Amino acid sequence: MPTATVAGTPIRYLDAGHGHPAVVLLHAFPLQAAMWDDQVEALAGRWRVLAPDLAGFGSTPPPAEPRAATMGDAATTVAGLLDHLGLGPVVVGGLSMGGYVAFALLRSRPELVAGLVLADTRAGADTPEVAERRTAQEAQVAERGTAELVEPMLASLLSDETRAERPEVVDRARSLMAANPPAGVIAALEAMKGRPDATAELATIGVPTLVVVGEHDEPSPPAEAEAMAAAIPGARLEVIPGAGHLSNLERPEVFTAALETFLARL
Ligand code: MLT
Repeated sequence: MPTATVAGTPIRYLDAGHGHPAVVLLHAFPLQAAMWDDQVEALAGRWRVLAPDLAGFGSTPPPAEPRAATMGDAATTVAGLLDHLGLGPVVVGGLSMGGYVAFALLRSRPELVAGLVLADTRAGADTPEVAERRTAQEAQVAERGTAELVEPMLASLLSDETRAERPEVVDRARSLMAANPPAGVIAALEAMKGRPDATAELATIGVPTLVVVGEHDEPSPPAEAEAMAAAIPGARLEVIPGAGHLSNLERPEVFTAALETFLARL
């Protein structure tokens, strides 16, 4: 994995293929860039595909002050990586937390975004109940480490079908999550808690947009994806059958085909 130094901090990222526009894939919480391995491999035949490990995930170190982290910081890091590589505008694809980063990038550096893929994500900010749950998770991770958080999360991130029929996907999701250091997890929880509501911005999105959702996504249900797609001018909605929240890991072939179709039409 190459490293770019962005604002004095090393950022590790996957980088494969050639072709325009480049595609930047932003991972979910609490995963890492490698959750996109299947898509990177499939798309690299025709496009340049990048997938950074966001701060505190995979092999990118956590921010110096995890409890001060913001979604804007993550977007600044992605923008810094693109500037470093001399890339942009690019297609930005984010799954769940990755979508929150995409909204922040669109807010701070819209000129870098030529197209959007919003997968299993939502525009709204945290409700007070969700923010409270995240605070409790921060305390749990600080005390007992990341692995304890992972097991209960897997049930809500993966569909019943995936958990019953595809144990290798469950194992892969678990290992992509459990390895992340508590400081990274805490920083992301803080950033998610503090992120602004992007709902009013949906109508102003002026780039081609694909909204993707797993048929059985619990954290970001299809109804929410439908409403988001309806609010974005010209957006297309793709529902991934049998998948839960981590739709790209659960049904990689269907997810990748939707992505390829979208990219080919740009
Ligand atoms: C994710 O998959 O990134 C998380 O579900 C996001 C969240 O907790 O809001």
